[in-house]
Amino acid sequence: MPKFIINGKKPLSGQIAVSGAKNSALKIIPASILSTEKITIKNLPNIEDVTRSFEVLTDLGAKITYNGSEANIDTSNIANNELNAKMADKFRGSIMFVGPLLARFGEAKFPHPGGCVIGAGGRPIDLFLEGYRAFGAEIKEESGKFYHIKAKHLQAAEYFFPLVSVTATESMMMTASIIPGTTILKNCAMEPEISALADYLNTQGAQISGAGTPIMVIKGQNKIGAGEFTVIPDRIETGSFAILAAAANANLEIINCQPEHIMTLLKIMERIGVDFEYGRDWLKIKKGKRPLKAHDIKTHEYPGFATDLQSPYVVLMTQAQGISLIHETIYDRRLLWTDMLSQMGASIIMCDPHRVVIQGPTPLFGKRLISPDLRAGIALVIAGLIAEGRTEIDNVYQIDRGYEKLEERLRKIGADISRVE
Ligand code: EPU
Repeated sequence: MPKFIINGKKPLSGQIAVSGAKNSALKIIPASILSTEKITIKNLPNIEDVTRSFEVLTDLGAKITYNGSEANIDTSNIANNELNAKMADKFRGSIMFVGPLLARFGEAKFPHPGGCVIGAGGRPIDLFLEGYRAFGAEIKEESGKFYHIKAKHLQAAEYFFPLVSVTATESMMMTASIIPGTTILKNCAMEPEISALADYLNTQGAQISGAGTPIMVIKGQNKIGAGEFTVIPDRIETGSFAILAAAANANLEIINCQPEHIMTLLKIMERIGVDFEYGRDWLKIKKGKRPLKAHDIKTHEYPGFATDLQSPYVVLMTQAQGISLIHETIYDRRLLWTDMLSQMGASIIMCDPHRVVIQGPTPLFGKRLISPDLRAGIALVIAGLIAEGRTEIDNVYQIDRGYEKLEERLRKIGADISRVE
């Protein structure tokens, strides 16, 4: 298993480019099943989860050429509708193939998806199943481990999501795009990746309106055509780099990004005393007065404070003056990693699985750590970069899942970070 070795406290400065968004790419790739015509996807992040998605798609029978950034996909020969269990077990994104398979073949077989263990109960898929039933599908389930979904006749539906879910919204939206009739989805998630998916499907001939709002209306088409899509910049990577710069008190220019997608974080940065400037596709974090001021956050669906930025923000708060309360409302295991930060010298009290209180500022010291999941992983990297001494982070696979060539990009801005096998 590769590890990161970080020698902390090196001055950071310069320019860092943001990759295409993982959580957009992971939906656009399965969406290629909805059309039998050629699909081109540009600005793909070269990360583990994208590689895994291509493995699943190839296993289903698609032909793919991929150069690490751009892919050409032809799904016209797909005849199989069963996801390979070993492949699907590696990442949560595998669930995104189910809706398109169901819509195209009226049938899909798949195991419970794997991925980061950040929620109790192995991250449920009940909303997906309820949604497919609303389209007229019947589901046979083998004790929550394997599912067989089949529909004699798929029909458009009116469906209200009992709770807001990003991937369930995307899955229903993709499925409905080729089910004739008008589907109305209510209480939808509103993340930028959802609007990007709708814009893309609409260029292929789908008729989706309301994406980015809680109510979507989808006029299902008999078929949709060829497509070309440029993956939007990764807003979580943008926010993570901004937080790194603020925590390290560095002058950092973040390019190829879309700051309008992280406005909640930027508003908080303003309040805690981070000096920054931004334009349409760049964000400059400036060196400034320290310490920053502590500030509470409560994670929320978009446009609220992203749960995926909670862990880097926790690191930032260890460097801020005062007490901050971090309230994680989306996942109940996403604060457990903060124990590792305490081992590095942070003063953190866990109130319950959803809340921690941080007293700052405290110096951090290098440690040997294991990355438990993707976002905690990047937070540990940020902690290592601002800590005194040497930090070792094991299980880098969890970081590679979402961040392309992270150590190379960080080295270019002055970090002392290397990967060892
Ligand atoms: N939930 C259910 N039942 C379901 C689906 C979700 O109870 O059928 C619950 C979840 O357990 C959670 C809440 O609903 O408590 C919201 O989860 P959501 O479904 O929105 O999360 P997701 O769609 O599985 C996506 C991202 C996550 C990101 C969340 C929230 C992808 C592939 N994943 O997950 O990204 O944290 O939205 O914004 O788009 C990451 O990138 O590290 C990551 C975990």
